[in-house]
Amino acid sequence: MLKIKNGDSRNYDPEDPTGDLLRSLERRGYGIYPDFVDPTTVDELLFEIFTLYSKDEFQQAGVGVGRDYMVLPEVRSDRIHWFHREFPSPVQKKVINEFQVLKDRIRDHFRIPLSESEYFYAAYPPGGGYRKHYDNFKGDSRRLITSVLYLNKGWTESMGGALRIFRPVGEDLAQVPDFPREKEFLDILPLAGRLAVFLTPLMPHAVVESRDWRYSIVSWSGSSRGAERLPL
Ligand code: OGA
Ligand code: NI
Repeated sequence: MLKIKNGDSRNYDPEDPTGDLLRSLERRGYGIYPDFVDPTTVDELLFEIFTLYSKDEFQQAGVGVGRDYMVLPEVRSDRIHWFHREFPSPVQKKVINEFQVLKDRIRDHFRIPLSESEYFYAAYPPGGGYRKHYDNFKGDSRRLITSVLYLNKGWTESMGGALRIFRPVGEDLAQVPDFPREKEFLDILPLAGRLAVFLTPLMPHAVVESRDWRYSIVSWSGSSRGAERLPL
């Protein structure tokens, strides 16, 4: 089992949203950064999404990998566009830089290697969602941190589309002792500028059926060395 080492909780600046996020990640397995990017950046990202979408540069997302790969819209209905590894667009670069600052803090806090990151735009059509799942493929635990940046202006609860984080089970729960006891799951609305982060190997999650188009950037970070051999 992957063990997440407890972080160093001293020296927090209470005004620093990253400090709150680290503390929450450590205790509850997830955390939120309310205004991770400004409204102008949200607009630039949405403009790029609409442009790419209209040029047919989104593809139906699948589940599984290799021979297990399948497109199953009833399980996962988003359409995605991967950021180019070497040549991200200027606005993608701007966001990658923001993510990198945060990832360096998470890496130093938990002492986990986050040397590699993947990024993609995701668009869920109305009626779409993603059933309960983990973000690592079977037998693989390279992804350690999941971060999702939401881009939906004026989103309300009645529009659905929440990120639903389920209570971890067994030994995983022991690593996130403060997951609210009375709750089986927690819902996080996909509000513009909001970043949700969770510990990938421990947290099952879903996207609740959305009533409108729902846009986000999903990023996974970890190490290609594989988690089994990490000094955790
Ligand atoms: C995913 C995922 C959550 C979200 O893409 O694997 O779970 O809130 N996304 O978009
Ligand atoms: Ni996921």
